[in-house]
Amino acid sequence: MSKPCFLSCFLFFFFFFFFIPKLSFSCPQDQRQSLLEFKNMLIHNIKENSTAVGGLGTWRPNSDCCKWLRVRCNASSPSKEVIDLNLSYLILSGTVSSSILRPVLRINSLVSLDVSYNSIQGEIPGDAFVNLTSLISLDMSSNRFNGSIPHELFSLKNLQRLDLSRNVIGGTLSGDIKELKNLQELILDENLIGGEIPPEIGSLVELRTLTLRQNMFNGSIPSSVSRLTKLKTIDLQNNSLSSDIPDDIGNLVNLSTLSLSMNKLWGGIPTSIQNLKNLETIQLENNNGLSGEIPTAWLFGLEKLKVLRLGGNKLQWNNNGYVFPQFKLTDLSLRSCGLKGNIPDWLKNQTTLVYLDLSINRLEGSFPKWLADLTIQFIILSDNRLSGSLPPNLFQSPSLSYLVLSRNNFSGQIPEKIVISLVMVLMLSENNFSGSVPKSITKIFLLELLDLSKNRLSGEFPRFHPESNLVWLDISSNEFSGDVPAYFGGSISMLLMSQNNFSGEFPQNFRNLSRLIRLDLHDNKISGEFASLTSRLSSSLEVLSLRNNSLKGSIPEGISNLTSLQVLDLSQNNLDGYLPSSLGNLTSMIKSPESSSSAKRPFYSFNTDLETLIKIKSQDIFSLVVNWKNSKQVLFDRNFYLYTLLDLSKNKLHGEIPTSLGNLKRLKVLNVSNNEFSGLIPQSFGDLEKVESLDLSHNNLTGEIPKTLSKLSELNTLDLSNNKLTGRIPVSPQLDRLNNPNIYANNSGICGMQIQVPCSPTQTKQPAEEKEEEEEEDKEEETMFSWKAAVIGCSCGFLIAVVFMSYNGIWK
Ligand SMILES: *[C@@H]1O[C@H](CO)[C@@H](O)[C@H](O)[C@H]1NC(C)=O
Ligand SMILES: *[C@@H]1O[C@H](CO)[C@@H](O)[C@H](O)[C@H]1NC(C)=O
Ligand SMILES: *[C@@H]1O[C@H](CO)[C@@H](O)[C@H](O)[C@H]1NC(C)=O
Ligand SMILES: *[C@@H]1O[C@H](CO)[C@@H](O)[C@H](O)[C@H]1NC(C)=O
Ligand SMILES: *[C@@H]1O[C@H](CO)[C@@H](O)[C@H](O)[C@H]1NC(C)=O
Ligand SMILES: *[C@@H]1O[C@H](CO)[C@@H](O)[C@H](O)[C@H]1NC(C)=O
Ligand SMILES: *[C@@H]1O[C@H](CO)[C@@H](O)[C@H](O)[C@H]1NC(C)=O
Ligand SMILES: *[C@@H]1O[C@H](CO)[C@@H](O)[C@H](O)[C@H]1NC(C)=O
Ligand SMILES: *[C@@H]1O[C@H](CO)[C@@H](O)[C@H](O)[C@H]1NC(C)=O
Ligand SMILES: *[C@@H]1O[C@H](CO)[C@@H](O)[C@H](O)[C@H]1NC(C)=O
Ligand SMILES: *[C@@H]1O[C@H](CO)[C@@H](O)[C@H](O)[C@H]1NC(C)=O
Ligand SMILES: *[C@@H]1O[C@H](CO)[C@@H](O)[C@H](O)[C@H]1NC(C)=O
Repeated sequence: MSKPCFLSCFLFFFFFFFFIPKLSFSCPQDQRQSLLEFKNMLIHNIKENSTAVGGLGTWRPNSDCCKWLRVRCNASSPSKEVIDLNLSYLILSGTVSSSILRPVLRINSLVSLDVSYNSIQGEIPGDAFVNLTSLISLDMSSNRFNGSIPHELFSLKNLQRLDLSRNVIGGTLSGDIKELKNLQELILDENLIGGEIPPEIGSLVELRTLTLRQNMFNGSIPSSVSRLTKLKTIDLQNNSLSSDIPDDIGNLVNLSTLSLSMNKLWGGIPTSIQNLKNLETIQLENNNGLSGEIPTAWLFGLEKLKVLRLGGNKLQWNNNGYVFPQFKLTDLSLRSCGLKGNIPDWLKNQTTLVYLDLSINRLEGSFPKWLADLTIQFIILSDNRLSGSLPPNLFQSPSLSYLVLSRNNFSGQIPEKIVISLVMVLMLSENNFSGSVPKSITKIFLLELLDLSKNRLSGEFPRFHPESNLVWLDISSNEFSGDVPAYFGGSISMLLMSQNNFSGEFPQNFRNLSRLIRLDLHDNKISGEFASLTSRLSSSLEVLSLRNNSLKGSIPEGISNLTSLQVLDLSQNNLDGYLPSSLGNLTSMIKSPESSSSAKRPFYSFNTDLETLIKIKSQDIFSLVVNWKNSKQVLFDRNFYLYTLLDLSKNKLHGEIPTSLGNLKRLKVLNVSNNEFSGLIPQSFGDLEKVESLDLSHNNLTGEIPKTLSKLSELNTLDLSNNKLTGRIPVSPQLDRLNNPNIYANNSGICGMQIQVPCSPTQTKQPAEEKEEEEEEDKEEETMFSWKAAVIGCSCGFLIAVVFMSYNGIWK
């Protein structure tokens, strides 16, 4: 080995072992240790069944942490400190405690930290933030942080972006918010922060963005907001703010976005807003309380305006004035603003429109051709008085995605040539459309919701392609005929085809519809064996209504395979045979879904923008009509998980009523009337603890009314008439209120104080029951005395209550 070689080798090793570490081609040792500590905690500390994924494999002890995934170091600093750490989407299921962040928070050089989407739970470890003074961007959104915002966060003077959205942080914003003098962006969306917006917000004079969206702020918009003159965006949507819009909002000269939708604001639109020449977005929708005339004179002069959403208030359009819009809008909502006459002409100029909602007005005349020619995505004109036929070019729009024309007076045929390939939602219900549905409609692959209900459409309904994305189809109340439509894609969840003339046997290929949740075919002419039908239905089915068809045969044992069934309405058919005892095994009629989240989930899964859909959906579209005693009642989806109904009335079912029906503890309505059932009323009916309506009338039932019925504390509709029942009506506060003699009429000797028929000695019971009987007689005297008064206080029915809730709740 020569000397030069020896020397160069020496130098090489010298540099390698000595200089290189000193020159620090690696991140600082302590920061690497902190990151490794975090990784170990993540692996060992995660609660049961959590999964940690996403690139931490590169985090190895003896490597340069600047090369690890999710880590970025300061390249221009000799010590290569970690400045950027993105830990989002690490924990995909399960939860971890917020203390897991502590090692990471020791890295004082951090400029940007993102821990979003991790199901981290517990309070934000505020004390650990004190030294993170370089932090500019902090994203902690979509976790389960709770408690309040720690005041230490407010001392992070350089912070420009703070995102705490989608957590469960509570309490009010603390006064420490004052300290955030340099904060430029405050985003606290979608938490559960409540109380009033503190006036101290006005000291954050550097703020560019103030987003407190989807929280629970109430009270007023503090006028101190007007001091935040650098604000470009103020977004307070979806809170409970209840005040007027402060007039000095006009001081925010650089404001481009003013979003105050979905609050409880009142008063007029302040005229000072006309000073805000940079405004691009004004969203004041759904406040209910905003009123007064829409100030078109200056509002339509805001040249930069692109989004103007004023619908869902008490604002009034001046139908006599002329408008000269200086803007080119993309979004316009004038829903329920009192528009009259034709669809306004000035819209012709709005060639950039993407979203147009003029629903719930008094517009009349025809659908203008020029509107169909705009390259627009959303046309929502429901609930007006528009008439005439639709221009054919509307159905050839290359951009249309939502077309909602429900509840107008449109007529004529649906154009034959439909090439609206981007349409997801098409609602033409409650008009006067006639003729057949063109086959070309089935070629719209993006179509998810098709509502043609309540028209006069006829002919056979076309077959959809197996790869169609249709989720929701409503063609009820038309004049369709032929076989029951059965050709849909695998996404179909809702098939509402009642009140048509569908006939023939139930189609074979229903088996493939594995996501079907609701099948409503009442009032058609479907024939054939019911048994062959059940084997073709998916166990996902929650509602099956076949009322008033011509089905025959018996109800098969296999019915219990429909484990999700909550509403089964088979009334008014020709079913005969015995009831299978497996009916008592219908799981969803026995116990409530475990978690309320699954109970309240939306039962359809649309890909489309659900928010818009919810805004435009109407009560009757998401509802189901059932028989409740002799009247029809509407069940609304919002509360759908509450309903359970079994209606087998008006068939020819016979034999005994199986005892197992008493298992169906969730049932609200049980109707087996107008059949040929014989034998005794099962004792087990006393276990139907939720039942409100029980109709056993018009059968051949014998024996006594079981005493167990006195346990039914929610019963408010009972009909036992037209049977062969005998003996005494049991006594209970609830039964004593049900004193209309008709509900016991035409039996073979029923007595009791409820119907003021005294029981004769021959109607007394077996000796074994005598003792109980005596006690009851004492009680009976007492009750006789007061039952008249009790009637007045009769508990309100479940359905009535729910229907009421829905009417109040669904339009928000
Ligand atoms: C966790 O997973 C195991 C097996 O995969 C399962 O038995 C257990 O119920 C799960 N625990 C939770 C809380 O999900
Ligand atoms: C990176 O380091 C240099 C030199 O120390 C410093 O001037 C700069 O501010 C640092 N960059 C960041 C983003 O921290
Ligand atoms: C972190 O990574 C996620 C997913 O890759 C990305 O969406 C997010 O923008 C990143 N955060 C930051 C602050 O760059
Ligand atoms: C912050 O820095 C100070 C001074 O270096 C130190 O004493 C303190 O422990 C640090 N606090 C945290 C939470 O790291
Ligand atoms: C936050 O969540 C943790 C863990 O679920 C709980 O122990 C703690 O009481 C909660 N704190 C607050 C203020 O709700
Ligand atoms: C409004 O906020 C509530 C929670 O507070 C949320 O459930 C709802 O989806 C939000 N609505 C919209 C349209 O964002
Ligand atoms: C705001 O909400 C808080 C707590 O939820 C309540 O105590 C307060 O009375 C409410 N204020 C107004 C003006 O509604
Ligand atoms: C408004 O924005 C302009 C341009 O960005 C800026 O020069 C001006 O200082 C801003 N005004 C206020 C009050 O911040
Ligand atoms: C539409 O715009 C043109 C030119 O910009 C203008 O002359 C016309 O008056 C506008 N029409 C309406 C109805 O505003
Ligand atoms: C009910 O389900 C079981 C098991 O999945 C199956 O074996 C049986 O054939 C089904 N019964 C009917 C009538 O579909
Ligand atoms: C009802 O379910 C129980 C338990 O799953 C089972 O033992 C019984 O045989 C079933 N009854 C009928 C009639 O299917
Ligand atoms: C009712 O029952 C009696 C005997 O219990 C029987 O003779 C009669 O045929 C039955 N009537 C009907 C309609 O099933």
